[in-house]
Amino acid sequence: MPRPWEGGLALLRAPALEVSFALRSALRWSRGNPALPHEPKEPWLATLPPEHQQAIADLVVRHRLEPLAAASTVATFGSCLQRLEALDRLGLTTDLPVGIDGVVRAADFGCGDFHYAIALQRWLAGCGGARRVVLRGFELDGHGLYRDGHSRADHARAHAALAAVDGGMVRFDVACACAVKLPEQDVVTMFFPFLGPFACLRWGLPLSRLRPRRLLRAAVAALRPGGLLVVANQTAAEHARLCRWLRPLPVAPLARVSMASELVPWAERTTGQVLSAWRRQDLRSCGDGG
Ligand SMILES: C[S@@+](CC[C@H](N)C(=O)[O-])C[C@H]1O[C@@H](n2cnc3c(N)ncnc32)[C@H](O)[C@@H]1O
Repeated sequence: MPRPWEGGLALLRAPALEVSFALRSALRWSRGNPALPHEPKEPWLATLPPEHQQAIADLVVRHRLEPLAAASTVATFGSCLQRLEALDRLGLTTDLPVGIDGVVRAADFGCGDFHYAIALQRWLAGCGGARRVVLRGFELDGHGLYRDGHSRADHARAHAALAAVDGGMVRFDVACACAVKLPEQDVVTMFFPFLGPFACLRWGLPLSRLRPRRLLRAAVAALRPGGLLVVANQTAAEHARLCRWLRPLPVAPLARVSMASELVPWAERTTGQVLSAWRRQDLRSCGDGG
């Protein structure tokens, strides 16, 4: 919960955010895919206890993260490790829904710069990359400028390309996820969607674009019956709100784990984070049409 003065300050920024969002959306700045920034991981790894170093080495091997280790900052690498660790703990890796053609179709709604695309692709593909995956990331605010002069979309496309490095199909689009037309998806993920105004303003997205319940409905509607919705929330309170908002929708809770992780340099910030999975129900078996 923000303190009152923090909420007030965020609100003061609101009009400027509307203007800057409109400007960058009209300008659609792009300089093409950047070379992904890289940092050696050894100095950071050396600060971790041996059991955490071993856990990281295991994740890298199990999920074939060598391309990520070779082209990432410590922050990106850690963020991917944290997400994969939590996804693994959901315990769904062996029975992810797969289309009748053997392909897992997945969409990530609100993917930001999609820096975790490779982690998500690897989790969807399963051990040894056994499943074929078509993964698409959608981000509404893709034209923001990064310090290197590239846009968020430029970075997202570079991360998508890294995730596709050994034959996967990973795409990124600047789009409102509520408006995209998709074939029925096997899996829809949402990592840290905004469920309230403060997080939205602090991130820099104008309040006029905050439509969390609509986004959730779109995520559920994109799934085929039996498909999987996976959502990460920042806090237990936010997760409780998610549960309330999903209650009238045709999904049933499957699994929930803490995302608390010692494998990131910002471990203390992960303590309240929650990852949950929900199964899309067949409307006919629900009887009430959702
Ligand atoms: C907290 S950020 C999380 C970004 C990313 N998932 C991550 O974990 O780093 C939430 C993102 O959702 C995006 N977003 C909000 N509403 C959206 C919508 N309707 N369609 C697509 N993206 C949306 C925001 O612009 C923002 O980038």
